Order: sequence, then C-alpha cells, then structure tokens
Amino acid sequence: MEVASDLGETSIEAEIARETWITRLGFIFAVWGSMTGLGNVWNWPSKVSLLGGGPFVLIYLIMLALVGIPVVLTEFVLGSTFRRGFPSALKRIHPAGEFLGWFCMANSAVLEAFYVVLIGYAAVYAGFALTGLQLGGPMGAAYFTDQPEFFVNLLMSPLTLVGLIVVWIVVFAIDYFGTKGIERSVMIFFPLLWIIVIGMAIFGLTQPGAAAGINFYLNPQPNQFFETKMWSTAVSLSFFKLSAGMGILTAYASYLPRKGELTNSAVTTSLLDTTFAFTAGLAVFPIAATVGVLGDETVGSVGFAFVAWPGGMTMSGGNLLGFVFFLMIVFLGVTSAVSLLEAVVTAVMDKFGWPRSRTVIVMTIVMFLMGVPFTLWMAAPGAAATDVTWGLYLLDIFDYYVENFGLVLVTLFMMLITGWVWGGAKIIETANEAGDFELPSWYVWVIKVIAPIGIIAAFAFIVLSIFLEGLYLAGTVLDLIAPLVWVVICAGAAIALTMAKGVE
Ligand code: PHE
Repeated sequence: MEVASDLGETSIEAEIARETWITRLGFIFAVWGSMTGLGNVWNWPSKVSLLGGGPFVLIYLIMLALVGIPVVLTEFVLGSTFRRGFPSALKRIHPAGEFLGWFCMANSAVLEAFYVVLIGYAAVYAGFALTGLQLGGPMGAAYFTDQPEFFVNLLMSPLTLVGLIVVWIVVFAIDYFGTKGIERSVMIFFPLLWIIVIGMAIFGLTQPGAAAGINFYLNPQPNQFFETKMWSTAVSLSFFKLSAGMGILTAYASYLPRKGELTNSAVTTSLLDTTFAFTAGLAVFPIAATVGVLGDETVGSVGFAFVAWPGGMTMSGGNLLGFVFFLMIVFLGVTSAVSLLEAVVTAVMDKFGWPRSRTVIVMTIVMFLMGVPFTLWMAAPGAAATDVTWGLYLLDIFDYYVENFGLVLVTLFMMLITGWVWGGAKIIETANEAGDFELPSWYVWVIKVIAPIGIIAAFAFIVLSIFLEGLYLAGTVLDLIAPLVWVVICAGAAIALTMAKGVE
C-alpha cells in the first residue's frame, strides 16, 4: 500500500513537471531527427531502386498526402491532448487502447534492438575509414579495396557487437537528459546532416555514372502506376520513414506546451524528411551506377548502404569521404534511435511512475540485450545469399514483420480508435486550436476514412503477397518460427504490461 501511494505521488509530481521543449524549432528538429534516419540511406533507396525508380517517388508523395501526413497529425494530437506516452494516451480514449499501445511499444523495442545494430555497422565502418585498417588480418579485405568482402568480413566478426555497444552508449547519454539532451543534440545534427547530404549529392552528380543513375531514379514508366505493390510499399515505407506507428510522435508531442502548433509541424517535418531522402537518392543512384550495382538485387536490403555507398566513396573520395559518409549514417541513426528509446521510456514512466534515470538505464539494458542476437557473426546455414550471418538473417526477417505487420497494424488501429472512438472532429478541432493554417472540416474524412482505407488496402496486399510469394523465405526453419516469435513477444509483452498495476 505504502509503495503504491509513494508511486502515486511520484506520478503527480511527474504530471506537474512534465518536460517541455524549449523552443518550437527544437520540437520540429527533434521530430525530423526521428523521421530522418537509416531509412533514408537504406530502405528508401533500396525500395525505390527495386521497384523501379521515378514512378515510385510520385506514388510515395501521393500516399504521403493521403495517409502519411494524416497519421502523423493524429499521433501529434494524441500526444499533445493527453500529454502521455502512446499506451497511456490511448488508454484515455478506451481501456483496450492500452493493449494496442504496449503492443506498439514491444514492436518498437524489437525495431530499436536491430536498428542500433545497423548504426553499429556504420560506426565500425567510420572507424575503418578513418584509420585505413584492414579487417580480417593482413590478408583481409581493406576498407578501400573490396567492398562486398569487407562487409561480409564485418558481419562475420564480433565487431558487430562492439559497434552495438558503442552506439548504445551514445544513445543512452543523450536520452538520459530527456528533452534537453535531445533538443541540444538535434540543434547540432540538423545543420550538419544537411550540409553532408548536399555535399554527397554534389559528389554523386559529378560521378561518371550520374546520368545513368538519375535516369534510373527518376525516369517514369507509366505502366508501373498500376502495380499494386508500388502503392502498398509506399504506405509501409512512409510509416517507417515518418516514425509513425512507433509511439514516437505521440511521445514527442506530449512534451509540447499547451496549444502547441501541430498542423504545420506535421507537414513540415514529413516534407523535410522526404526531401532529405530524395537528396540522398541523388547521391546514391549515381554512385551505384558508377560502381555498377544499380538495380542489383543482391545489394537490396542493408547492402545498399554498406556496399554501394562505400564502394562509390572509395572510388574517388578515399577514406575521408567514406568517414564523413559513415559519420552521417551514425548521426542519422542516433537521432532516430534516441527517439524510439524515448517513446518507450515515456510510456514506462507514465505507467509505473519511475524516475527518468532509472527508466532510461533499465530500458537501455533491455533493448541492448534484445539486440545481441542480431549481431551474431556465425554463418547462417542455408540462408539467402544476402543474409550471410545469423545476425543479418534474423535482422532481415524481423524487420519484415516489424515493418509490414507491426507498423501497419498499429497505425491502422490507432487511426480507428482515435478517429472513430474518440472522434475525428476532435482531431481537427485540436489541430485548428493553434494551427498555423486551418484544416477544412472535410479533412475529417481523410482521417476517418481515406487514411484507414489506404492502410487496409496496403495491408491486404501484404497478406496477399504472402499467399502468392510465400513467407519471407531464406530456406530455413526460422522462416516459420520468426513470425511466431514476433507475435509472442509483442502480444505477450502487451498483455503483461496492460495487466501490470501502474500508478494511473
Ligand atoms: N524514421 C526512421 C528512419 O527512417 C525509422 C526509425 C525511427 C527507426 C526510430 C528506428 C527508430 O530510419
């Protein structure tokens, strides 16, 4: 009893003292920092390239307007209205909402676990680029000479674990200081990242493969507009890119002062993110064309960032350019990883009334440990050609479920609960209270009907393609077990945390 009342007081104090962003720009930069992550150099270029360039970019923009931005706005409203993390905010609408909230948090934790592993690769690359060391002994591939081999050597070494530890220390150190730490860091990272990506684009556009690369990137082939896969991928990719369905946007908006601006912020951050991805594409496609891996299936997935890019960098820029590029990846990733840690931290603090310091320490340890399997450097027997080690294989397969099922389903139910149970009109009202511009009343239908239909259609196609093409297949028994493990983690954690006694 006593413990409970203690916690109760902590939570009341926490309520009074909820952190806030110091400036409006701080909030916008922080959201942008979350949205603009590894996805810009990894998922975006590999999906645009596998799906055939130009038309996909247009389709992406259409789905951004119809589905992505309405979702971002809804998450913002949720956070700023209830001033709580995702599970507690949804619980205020409907008790069942809390389950959805924790399901989302568990899915996000899995995402964070492997996402930091990827940032770790980039950190290791940056180290090698700077020192010019070779990986795999004197006979091993040097950073400069053999990109695919260097990548494989890295995957097959415990350096993956070293990278994971290093990046977690940085992520922890920023989030430990809450909004202050986040706001200060993005104020530095924002200008720095733009300078680097613009520089990279100029570099790419001056490479011999520039014309071929840009042609591939932006040349529209009208018949592709009728391919369902383009539209469904645009939806799931936009959620990943916009950090939607992860509880991040709600958490960040919960730190806004009362009546903070939401509408313009949703549009600005989403478009800034797309512009950054687009600019990164102007660099990566010319480089990929120059090193001859344009549209090459084997560099799908993660390979795009770790084979095509450094391959190109070493061609004329040498180690310095490579170092700058990988530093960019690390910074891009860190601002996103911090935001996801913060989403989970806020949720736990809200529910259990723990102090920030304890919550950040515990959640860092939990997600670090969850990430260790994704670093496993042993060769994966029978795995697909691109999934060399157990770590990368697990990473790719869990990424598939987290992105295509987790993010899409969480977002769908979040839109339904918020738009229909709470009320679409309230969303518009709240946004208009302090919006830089006014949303028309018909916009309620975009939120209540058009966006959910877009999500349902995308999800239906994802399920259909499993029937047509089979599960994520690498030819091992894990293909069947992985989705089960994912469901058990997310649903199990959601049930346990929803039932757990909190302070609210
Ligand atoms: N928007 C991020 C990206 O593009 C996705 C993400 C955010 C992933 C936060 C993990 C944590 O990379």
